[in-house]
Amino acid sequence: MTTEHLKSLIRTIPDFPREGIRFRDVSTLMVDPDGFTEAVERMASIAPQDIDLVAGIEARGFLFAGAVATKLSAGVLMVRKGGKLPGDVHGRDYALEYGDDRLEVQVGNVPRGARILLVDDLIATGGTALAACELMEDAGAEVAGAVFLIDLPDLGGAQRLRDSGLDTHALISFE
Ligand code: PRP
Ligand code: ADE
Repeated sequence: MTTEHLKSLIRTIPDFPREGIRFRDVSTLMVDPDGFTEAVERMASIAPQDIDLVAGIEARGFLFAGAVATKLSAGVLMVRKGGKLPGDVHGRDYALEYGDDRLEVQVGNVPRGARILLVDDLIATGGTALAACELMEDAGAEVAGAVFLIDLPDLGGAQRLRDSGLDTHALISFE
C-alpha cells in the first residue's frame, strides 16, 4: 500500500473538538483491515531495535502501541490520563492543541534502565509526548525513540522531540 493510500484512509473533521481545529480522525484507517495492518507493520519497522516496552498514550495511542509491541516482542505500558490508574503513580500536567491534561504511569511498571519506545497515533504540539518522555525518564528508564502514525509539522512537535535528542519518526504528515 502506498503512503498516499494510507493517508487517504484518514478522515478530516473540521471544527472538532473546537472551532478552527482540523481533526485528523484515525478511526477510519483503524476500521480498514489492510490500512491498520499496514500502519502497524510500518510503525514497527521504523522503530529502534531492542525495545523492552512500548509506551502507549491513552486513548488512541493504546491501540497502536499494543499492536506494535507484539511485532517487537516487547511489553506494553499504559500512559493514562490523570486519575485512572490505581496504586502509586508518577504524573505530569501538560498543554495540547485544544486544552490541558495530565498523564500518569504506575510507579512499579517502569523498570529502571528499560529501553522504551513511545507510540501514539498523532503528534501535534508535542506537549503530550514530551510529558510522557519526562515521566519515563523520572522513573529511570531510557526513551529510545518515538513513533507516530501522523505528524502535524506546522505545530512543531516532532521537531521539538528531535531537538531534545529523541529518535522520532512519523509515517504521514498533514501540512
Ligand atoms: C491526541 C493525540 C495525541 C495528542 C497530540 O490525543 O492522540 O495523544 O492529542 O497532541 P500534542 O502533540 O499537541 O500534545 P487527545 O489528548 O486528544 O486524547 P485521546 O487520544 O484520548 O482522544
Ligand atoms: N491531537 C492534537 N491535535 C489533533 C488534531 N488536529 N487531530 C487529531 N488529534 C489531535
